[in-house]
Amino acid sequence: MNYQSFSSYASMSRAAAAMIADILRAKPECVLGLATGSSPIGTYDELVRMHREEGLSFAHCTTINLDEYLGLDGAHPQSYRFFMNEHLFSRVDIRLDHTFVPCGTASDPAAECLAYDARLKALGGADIQLLGIGPDGHIGFNEPADSFTVATHVVDLAPSTINANARFFDSAAEVPHQALTMGMGGIMAAKKILLIAPGSSKKAVLDAAMTGPVTPRLPASLLQLHPDVTVFFAEGHTSP
Ligand code: F6R
Repeated sequence: MNYQSFSSYASMSRAAAAMIADILRAKPECVLGLATGSSPIGTYDELVRMHREEGLSFAHCTTINLDEYLGLDGAHPQSYRFFMNEHLFSRVDIRLDHTFVPCGTASDPAAECLAYDARLKALGGADIQLLGIGPDGHIGFNEPADSFTVATHVVDLAPSTINANARFFDSAAEVPHQALTMGMGGIMAAKKILLIAPGSSKKAVLDAAMTGPVTPRLPASLLQLHPDVTVFFAEGHTSP
């Protein structure tokens, strides 16, 4: 793993955006694996700035996101589809029909998961997968478990994840208890992985994931087995 520590959230976000922009420029028709949550907001802001000021184009790329809350429609302000539209897609020249987020209101969630993996396979995996890390070491919504789940699946969110994400909702009671998430197979199929971990509260779980045993009890630890992982840590963080 390549590890880099930054003194600020802003400098980490600029470096993350630069890595994604390099791929976009070298391969305009690339597949970007994207994440939501507070960690990548600065990265998306910087990509938008590069689009506006430097002509960085998303016109030929495809994006595929990690996860979505089960039961939330894309029009719901806390859905991950809504987040992506707000923070990135509506601000750059991407074709919306080239952006994929699992459908949280699919009538058959298991079929949606199968279709999502088929899409990922057809795309050939992501050229770069952007990841955040949860307080329990989850990536996507792959929560600590007895074994790794390879395929996209419906997951019961851990209480710590529900609590951590309650800050985006009016109350913890409103946080969905289930989500659809890309599995570890989809994540590990990415050609390159960029994990961003802003905030000193993430340091302990990050260190354990990078240097401790590879275990499904700490899903991010599986990244130790990927040949091209970059980890950016920043002392500071911008809330939320
Ligand atoms: C989001 C995702 C999650 C988050 C993680 C960290 O798409 O897959 O794994 O990356 O929960 O969230 P933040 O960035 O809000 O600390």
